[in-house]
Amino acid sequence: MSDEKQGVTRRDFGKAAAAVSFAAWTARPARAEVNTETLKIGLVGCGGRGTGALIDHLRGNDNVVLVGMADVFQDRIDGAKARFGKVPEIASKLAIEEDRCFVGFDAYRKLLATDIDIMIHATTPYIRPVHVAAAVEAGKHIFTEKPSATDPKGIRLFIEAAKKAEKKGLTLVAGTQRRHEKSYVETIKQILDGKIGEILSARAYWCGTLPFAYDRKEGMSDLEYRLRNWYSYCWVCGDNIVEQHVHNLDIINWVMGGPPAKVMASGGRAWKPRTEKYGDIYDHFSCDYEYPNGVHLLSMSRHWNNSHNNVSEAVVGTKGQSSCRDMAKDDRNPYEQEHIDLTASIRGTGPYLNEGVRVAQSTMTAIMGRMSAYTGKQYTYDEALNEDLALVPAELDFTKAYPVGPIPVPGT
Ligand SMILES: NC(=O)c1ccc[n+]([C@@H]2O[C@H](COP(=O)([O-])OP(=O)(O)OC[C@H]3O[C@@H](n4cnc5c(N)ncnc54)[C@H](O)[C@@H]3O)[C@@H](O)[C@H]2O)c1
Repeated sequence: MSDEKQGVTRRDFGKAAAAVSFAAWTARPARAEVNTETLKIGLVGCGGRGTGALIDHLRGNDNVVLVGMADVFQDRIDGAKARFGKVPEIASKLAIEEDRCFVGFDAYRKLLATDIDIMIHATTPYIRPVHVAAAVEAGKHIFTEKPSATDPKGIRLFIEAAKKAEKKGLTLVAGTQRRHEKSYVETIKQILDGKIGEILSARAYWCGTLPFAYDRKEGMSDLEYRLRNWYSYCWVCGDNIVEQHVHNLDIINWVMGGPPAKVMASGGRAWKPRTEKYGDIYDHFSCDYEYPNGVHLLSMSRHWNNSHNNVSEAVVGTKGQSSCRDMAKDDRNPYEQEHIDLTASIRGTGPYLNEGVRVAQSTMTAIMGRMSAYTGKQYTYDEALNEDLALVPAELDFTKAYPVGPIPVPGT
């Protein structure tokens, strides 16, 4: 059915979507006027990005202090502290108390039981919905990294938590920093205002190299190895389309005003050895997404070494095309800016932000592409979201076995 027959032009679709997101941006739940108190931060997931996000937060804001930390591994907490100690400009904002540093799978709960105001959350993706839901229950504001989950069950939990956060007036910012990057913000505003006409098609690529794969150290349990070598196992990372390509899919969803209606995808494993170190994930995906108004998005996500790399987005309209970031220049660090916007929302000095549903939809866009490639089936968004698919083991126990799953073969 053509768009016109449905009474909606492509342009109307984009405008309506823009209006919805503007309303969400400005509709502020009831809460205290302006909060000038010192905000206490708890960091959950103290690896590379957790440490980096915390430094971004402290650099970007005044009147904020890090008071506590949580991780499954003690060495990650120790490593984060050592890194903080090497950044002189954040020294006055470190007030880490030893009795607020927790280790283990319940460490997040213990930290949430303290009087922290904000949880900065940067664990590996598998556990994010559980931690975010608990933080909302505990009444904490949240910065949480992408992707939101690795399976539909996790996405549903994350969306429920994000909606509850809004009802409670809690701020939730997600680590899709392009949404805070001036070049994207101002270009996409112009695209939504019709600068390149009606959108006809889109492209999104994360064609890069393999970020890491570690050898198993002697004596390491299955679970410890899954968590440390996490970018090889689907239940932990979601596969490369979910883990990294979510950034690019999120940009196109932003332009299109929401997630695609359906997807048909292919993928596979071209070079990775079939060993435990390289796990059960694919090394390439190609997806054809279709949005509700009939616009198609060509997406590619891959981890190939010694190949042509391309991490970018583009949209083609009736009056021109855009890289989604070519109509303005960047003059600020988006990784810091997202934390400045987070505290402005909490304090009431900037617009209220709850990016939870939106980042979950973009993560689900990636998950449905993966589901289509793994099975060879076409999926609608709703079918994929509601599928009874839960990858994360119900029990996490270092003494138990966690065998690597089979590499998916479509049609079987
Ligand atoms: N926005 C960006 O540009 C960007 C950049 C890098 C990473 N990230 C995201 O940040 C997340 C973390 O990536 P990373 O590179 O820091 O990985 P990492 O392995 O360095 O850190 C992850 C940390 O989470 C901890 N963890 C795992 N399970 C936990 C649990 N149940 N409770 C508490 N802690 C737990 C790990 O022990 C580890 O310290 C990923 O989701 C990744 O996509 C985002």
